[in-house]
Amino acid sequence: ATVSHDFNIGWVTANPDGAFDRTAIGINGQWPIPRIDANVGDNIVINVHNQLGNQSTSLHFHGLFMNGTVHMDGPSQVTQCPIPPGGSFTYNFTIEQPGTYWYHSHTQSQYPDGLRGPLIIHDPNSPYNGKYDEEIVMTLSDWYHDQMAHLIPQFMSKGNPTGAEPVPQAALMNDTQNLQISVKPKTTYLLRLVNIGAFAGQYFWIEGHTMKVVEVDGVYTKPYETDMIYLSAAQRYSVLVTTKDDAHSNFAVVGSMDTDLFDVLPDDLDWNVTSWLVYDKSKDLPKPALVSEFEPADDMKLSPYDSMELLPEPDRTVELEVKMDNLGDGANYAFFNNNTYREPKVPSLYTALTAGELATNPKVYGEYTNSFVLEKDQIVQIVINNHDDGRHPFHLHGHHFQVIHRSDEDGGDFAEANHMHLAFPPTPMRRDTIVVEGNGNVVLRFKANNPGVWLFHCHIEWHIVSGLLATFVEAPLELQKTIELPASHLDNCKAGGLPFAGNAAG
Ligand code: C2O
Repeated sequence: ATVSHDFNIGWVTANPDGAFDRTAIGINGQWPIPRIDANVGDNIVINVHNQLGNQSTSLHFHGLFMNGTVHMDGPSQVTQCPIPPGGSFTYNFTIEQPGTYWYHSHTQSQYPDGLRGPLIIHDPNSPYNGKYDEEIVMTLSDWYHDQMAHLIPQFMSKGNPTGAEPVPQAALMNDTQNLQISVKPKTTYLLRLVNIGAFAGQYFWIEGHTMKVVEVDGVYTKPYETDMIYLSAAQRYSVLVTTKDDAHSNFAVVGSMDTDLFDVLPDDLDWNVTSWLVYDKSKDLPKPALVSEFEPADDMKLSPYDSMELLPEPDRTVELEVKMDNLGDGANYAFFNNNTYREPKVPSLYTALTAGELATNPKVYGEYTNSFVLEKDQIVQIVINNHDDGRHPFHLHGHHFQVIHRSDEDGGDFAEANHMHLAFPPTPMRRDTIVVEGNGNVVLRFKANNPGVWLFHCHIEWHIVSGLLATFVEAPLELQKTIELPASHLDNCKAGGLPFAGNAAG
């Protein structure tokens, strides 16, 4: 089937925490923006009209492989020029993967202004069909009272030499607070959780109930029971929750922002957001107790439902050393291997398509794109050595990777020689977003079987602005034979995107 939507993207007023009216980015005059639902195998067609007036935009469908349609992936200056104000663009692709995803602006750092929402791909062949009665989708996020176009210049200025990230004003669930979720006793729910936030990871738990993890970032897992889950920005978990036998009370559902990420903790910050499982409307909504008794699920203990084995030894290893430092302008930047990412003038995909044989030379993509060119079907290992003391949720477009090692020791460095004794998990979990601990490291593996130009980046939006991105150019000569750009791509480029400066009127 074809699922189609017309999305008029424009400014609206939003006040999800009840504290402050702000201008936010909505779709068709609405905020929260609509959820996209489809089935495995569906064709999705989204006609975007940019009515922002003062900002360019684009949409990315986070976690989808975009196999054969990398030009629909969305990141500005990577796979397209951004859609200028007044411009239109159609995203058209087929989905072959089940699970819990989301979509968001991938132009500059625009999505925290509101242009982010869930995308659910239902699966008639899910191994968990029949194991639950109803489905609930729940987003977690952080919320700022100010617009990104105001916050970014302050963040990236010599007035902020330590790179302290702006702390959000509130946490939200389903873009609100104090949400009441009606439930029935003796019922099993599939709860799909998506962190669509800009910065804060969140601890999530439901008082009086355990959860059984069954899906992570679009990959079914063997059932894994836990009291609490940690979701970094961009991560997703589906859990089964079975309700109580009777309706004698209601229960708090809590999202708690990971304050370890914050350099300062404002006095007035309420870093928790509470909702309730409401069994009986006439009964109290209890205040949640303190969290301390729970430990979040260890995601290294998860394993994929299909038991897919550890990929063989890599053909190619890419080491990325993460560092933060000031540049000559006094502002704080983020670096992979001493190089801070800057957007190329020409989208990297267009370079891959037009450079002929040269497309296999990483230099043609520009020094500041941190480009790595991969050959078709290579086994690729990414080693991230985090020399920063902060946590980073790294995301790879176009793939799931196997998470084969993670450590918060070694001062960041994964020195292979010292780890020969390490047994990697025989059936490692696959996902698309992984947290690397401060001064820790992580080792990922994937097979380069999806020709395309795929970003790899920290999903904390502040670190996008400060340059923590790399580009994987996968099988460019293959791409040259298969991808044909629709004319609308070039129209966007001719119009020339607007720099990220203007604030919405009002
Ligand atoms: Cu959620 Cu570059 O993506």
